[in-house]
Amino acid sequence: MINPMLTSCTSEITLEGSSNAHVPDELFAGLLAKQACISPKFLYDALGSKLFEAICELPEYYPTRTEAAIFARHGAEIARAAGEGCTLIDLGAGNCAKAASLFPLLKPAQYVAVDISTEFLHEALAPLRQRFAQIEMEGLGMDFSQQFALPAQVRAARRLFFYPGSSIGNFAPDDAYAFLRRLRLECGDDGAILIGIDLAKDKAVLDAAYDDALGVTAAFNLNILRHVNTLIGADFDIRAWRHHGFYNAARGRVEMHLESTRAQLVQWPGGARRFEAGERIHTENSYKYQQADAIELLERSGFEATRVWTDPRCPFAVIHAQAMAA
Ligand SMILES: C[S@@+](CC[C@H](N)C(=O)[O-])C[C@H]1O[C@@H](n2cnc3c(N)ncnc32)[C@H](O)[C@@H]1O
Repeated sequence: MINPMLTSCTSEITLEGSSNAHVPDELFAGLLAKQACISPKFLYDALGSKLFEAICELPEYYPTRTEAAIFARHGAEIARAAGEGCTLIDLGAGNCAKAASLFPLLKPAQYVAVDISTEFLHEALAPLRQRFAQIEMEGLGMDFSQQFALPAQVRAARRLFFYPGSSIGNFAPDDAYAFLRRLRLECGDDGAILIGIDLAKDKAVLDAAYDDALGVTAAFNLNILRHVNTLIGADFDIRAWRHHGFYNAARGRVEMHLESTRAQLVQWPGGARRFEAGERIHTENSYKYQQADAIELLERSGFEATRVWTDPRCPFAVIHAQAMAA
C-alpha cells in the first residue's frame, strides 16, 4: 500500500525511504496492543502540520518562542561554532522557519529539508527557494524513524544536522541514543549536530503547554485519528475521543493520550478493536532532559558538545556538538 502521507509530492520534493509498506502494520500493531498507541509521527499530515504551527503561536507553548529567542540572541555565536558553508540538514523541518532564520548567518552551501509531512514541506520550501536563490535546496519526504540513508544529492561534506523543537524528546531514551548514533554514522568525521532540547521544568508550565485553553493541542492530537482513518481506512469517530496532555513526573516526560468517551468498536479493513469508556490511546511522549544528561547522551552517541546556549527565563538548551572521530 502506498502511504498517502508521501503521495502528494511534486518533482521538487524527493520521496525517500522507497517503501512505506510498513505503515499499516505499524498502525495495526499499535492499535491492537494491550495499551493502544499510535506513533506521534502520524500527528503530521498537512492539517496536523498547520495545527502544530498554530500551537507555536499559543501563549502556553513556550518551546518554539524560547528556542527562537536563543537563535535570535546567539545566532552569531552559533554561526561561529558551526562555520559558514555547511550542508544544513533540517530533520523534521516543518515550516522551515527556524532554519531560515539562521541562513543569513550560517550561509549554508546546501539546505536539505526533511519531513514526513510532504505536502506541507513542499509549501514551506517554495518561497524559500525564491528568497534564498543562492542556496542550493533539497526537500526530502521521508520517515526518519525508519532506517535511512541520505540520497546521493545530499552533499557529504560538513553535514550539520539541525534538530530543533526538542523533537528528540519524542524518542524514549534508548531510541534517542539509537537515532543519534545513526546521525553520527551519516555525518562523517567533519559533521556536527545543532539540537534544541527542552529541559525539565515546573509541572504547571508543562501541563498548560500540552493542554492549552483554546483546545488547539486537543485538535492537533485528535487529528491523528482522522489521519489514521485516511491511512488504513479506519472508522474512528473523532467526537467520541477526548484529549489529555500532562507531565508524568515519575517518568520525566509529558504524555499525550486520547480517551474514549464511550464503549465503542473501531474497525478497519481486516481488523477491529473494542475500546471501553475511559480507555486511552497513547499518542506522544515528550521527554524533558537535565542539561547534563542531554550532553552525556550526545557524547555517548559520538558527538562532543562544543557550545550550549540557554534562556535565563525558561529552561531550554540549544547545543552544538561536533562528531567525535570514529
Ligand atoms: C515538533 S515539529 C517541529 C517542527 C520544526 N522543526 C520546529 O522546530 O518548529 C516536528 C516535525 O517533525 C516532523 N516529523 C515527525 N516525525 C517524523 C519522522 N519520523 N520522519 C520525518 N519527519 C518527522 C513533523 O512532520 C514535524 O514537521
